Amino acid sequence: MRNTLYGDTIPIETKEKIMDRTYCKIADRYGIVLEVMSLGLNQYWKRKFVRLMSPSAGLKMLDVAGGTGQITRNYLEYQDTVNNDTSSSVHVVDLNEQMLRVGKHRFASTQWARDGRISFAQGSAENLVDIADNSFDIYSISAGMHNIPHMELALSEAYRVLKPGGIFACLEYGHVDTQIVKQINRWHLETLTPALGQLLVGDRTSYERLVRSARTFPHQRDFAKAISHAGFNLPPGKGYELMQCGYMVAFYGTKPE
Ligand SMILES: C[S@@+](CC[C@H](N)C(=O)[O-])C[C@H]1O[C@@H](n2cnc3c(N)ncnc32)[C@H](O)[C@@H]1O
Repeated sequence: MRNTLYGDTIPIETKEKIMDRTYCKIADRYGIVLEVMSLGLNQYWKRKFVRLMSPSAGLKMLDVAGGTGQITRNYLEYQDTVNNDTSSSVHVVDLNEQMLRVGKHRFASTQWARDGRISFAQGSAENLVDIADNSFDIYSISAGMHNIPHMELALSEAYRVLKPGGIFACLEYGHVDTQIVKQINRWHLETLTPALGQLLVGDRTSYERLVRSARTFPHQRDFAKAISHAGFNLPPGKGYELMQCGYMVAFYGTKPE
């Protein structure tokens, strides 16, 4: 069976396992490789993604497919510096044990961890079994949705666990429609990224696998519709924000009150 809804060519029965194995291989060097591959833009995208959520003080965020906690860190830094807030918290859920191990280690010596404002759990975005209905103010998923075999299940879980009025936020690799930038984007993803994977971690295949997954993510127009079909209200306009002409796209939605 194929994931026909989103035109994915990967058999959905095996996709979760394949992606999990891939992240096991790259977990230890995930952050540094991403910085190099994004030519230093990774942190800029993630800071902007959090800034556009405009979170107020004291909110509880669920960082799904949170990996090593890059969004978590940006969120807590934002709360500290912009809102002068020390009560907001983040629960990170990720499928991959190795990514979580690296994340826990990175946060272990932070004040956030000492204050009990971060927790980690292993789990799938498609079935957030341990998370109660209407329990979080923000659901965030960054560079995670493209890995998920049944995105519609992840969207419906996001809707379930958010409180009424809660914010859905998703950062993903988008589709570049501007011709010249499209060529650069294709070269970057299909040629440079696997080459850097080989050079920096000695693993070309894992990065080819990740690029293939990212490239099968639906067009931003279609994914915004899927968010809306899941029940979320989209912000005025298109419902998403392009970064670097669509190389990355930030989607936002609100669960109706
Ligand atoms: C590219 S990393 C992104 C990590 C982090 N959100 C960030 O922006 O740096 C993708 C993450 O998705 C996780 N993942 C893949 N499939 C998943 C699933 N079905 N449920 C939860 N997490 C998943 C992987 O283990 C990996 O940590």
